[in-house]
Amino acid sequence: MPSTQNPRTYRVKSFGCQMNVYDGERMAELLTDQGIAAAPEGEEADLVVFNTCHIREKAAEKVYSDIGRLRREDGSSPLIAVAGCVAQAEGDEIMRRSPAVKMVVGPQAYHRLPDMIREATAGRRVTDTDMPAETKFDALPARNQGGRRRSGPTAFLTVQEGCDKFCTYCVVPYTRGAEVSRPHAALMDEARRLIDAGAREIMLLGQNVNAWYGEDARGRRIGLDGLIRELADIPELARIRYTTSHPNDMTEALIAAHGDVEKLMPFLHLPVQAGSDRVLRAMNRSHTAESYLKVLDRVRAVRPDIALSGDFIVGFPGETDADFEDTLRLVDAVGYAQCFSFKYSPRAGTPAATMEDQIPAEVMTERIVRLQAALGRDQTAFNVASVGKTCQVLVERKGKLPGQWLGKSPWLQSVYFDGDVAVGDMVTVELTEGGYNAVSARLLSPVAA
Ligand code: 5AD
Ligand code: SF4
Repeated sequence: MPSTQNPRTYRVKSFGCQMNVYDGERMAELLTDQGIAAAPEGEEADLVVFNTCHIREKAAEKVYSDIGRLRREDGSSPLIAVAGCVAQAEGDEIMRRSPAVKMVVGPQAYHRLPDMIREATAGRRVTDTDMPAETKFDALPARNQGGRRRSGPTAFLTVQEGCDKFCTYCVVPYTRGAEVSRPHAALMDEARRLIDAGAREIMLLGQNVNAWYGEDARGRRIGLDGLIRELADIPELARIRYTTSHPNDMTEALIAAHGDVEKLMPFLHLPVQAGSDRVLRAMNRSHTAESYLKVLDRVRAVRPDIALSGDFIVGFPGETDADFEDTLRLVDAVGYAQCFSFKYSPRAGTPAATMEDQIPAEVMTERIVRLQAALGRDQTAFNVASVGKTCQVLVERKGKLPGQWLGKSPWLQSVYFDGDVAVGDMVTVELTEGGYNAVSARLLSPVAA
C-alpha cells in the first residue's frame, strides 16, 4: 500500500455520551501535541477521527455513511480513524468493509494514536482494541501543559470508566471494560489544570461515576463524596456536577454531600430504566422501583429543591402493557425535571438480544410517544414552577438574538436573558418565564460574587 504524507490538520467528530466528548477532547489535545492542527471550520482535514457510540440503533451504519461522505471526487479520502465503542465492538468488520479506514482504535487504546498515525502514513492499516491493565490516562500527556490551553466555563473530567453491572441490554461492560477508578491525585491535578485554564464548573464523568473510589493524600479510602468535598475547597471552582449514576451506588455519604456541599449543584441524573420490578429483574438492574424511589426520597430530604433526571427504556423484551403502566406510574410519582427515554435496541452479544418476546416496533413507538408526553409535561411543569426564583447562572454562550445570552441554572435549565455579560461570568437572575426547553430570565446583577 502506498504511503501518504504526514497529516497536518485533524478533525475529531464525537458521537454519543459525554465521556466520548471528553475522550474526543483528549484525542484532540494529543494530536495538537504531535504538531497536527485542528482543521478550520468548513475545510477538509488531512486526518478525521470518528469517535463513535454503540449504545443504541444503527450506529455502525452511520459510521459507514459518514466515511462514504469523506470520499473525494478522485476516489481518495483523508486519513480516517474509527475510535470509540463501535471500533471496539466491530473493528474487524469495519476494516473489512471500509478500505478507506486506516486505523481502528478502541476507547482504552487511543493514547496509541500517534504511533498508529505513523504506521498508517507508512501505508499500513492498524487496529488496536486492547484493554491494557495500565490505563490510557497514565499514558496521556497532562492536560493544559504549560498553561497554554483555554477551557470553556464547564469542563468534563472523566473520573471512572467501565461498568461491572451487566444490565442485560447494555454493551458498555463489553466496549468500555470493567469498572476502573482513576487515582485521586491524578484527578486533583487535572481539575487544577482545568480551573487554571478557565473552567468554573467541573462535570465529573463516569459510566458509574458514583462507584468511584480512591485514596486521598493521607491514604484514606474515599468515595465520590470525598472527591467532591475536596474539589469544593478549591476557591476558584464555583460548581460541581456528576453523571451518570447507578441507584445502588448512591451511598449515604454521597446523599449527605447533596445536603451540605454548596458547590454541588441541586441536580441528580439517576437512571431507573423501567417502573416494573419484573422488567427490572429481567434487565438485571438489581434494584426495584420502590428502592429507587426511596433513594430519591432520601436525596430530597436533604436537598428539597433537587432537580431529578433519569433514563428510560421502553419495549424491553417481554414488557407487557401492565409493565409499561408501572413505568408511567413511576414517572408520575417522581416528577422529573428532565429525562432521556429510548426504544429498546437489541445489541449483539448482550443477553437481552436473544430473549424471547421481543416487542414489535409499533408497540414501542406507541409506548415511547406516551412516555415522552408524560415526561414533557413534567419538564414544562418544572420550568414553569421555577418562575419567580432568583438564582445564579453560569454564562455559556451568546443566544441567537442580539444582546441575548444563554447559561445554566443550578438545576441545569437553559436560561436566556439580555444584558452586558461575558462567557464564564456567574450572574444573578430572576427567572421570569418557563417553557418546555428553556427558561427566560431578567438579569439582576451583572457579575455575582
Ligand atoms: N437500548 C436502548 N437504550 C439503551 N440504553 C443502554 N442500552 C440500551 C439499549 N440496548 C440507554 C439506557 C442507559 C442510556 C445511557 O442508554 O437508558 O441508561
Ligand atoms: Fe450499561 Fe447498566 Fe452499566 Fe449503565 S449500569 S453502563 S446501563 S450495564
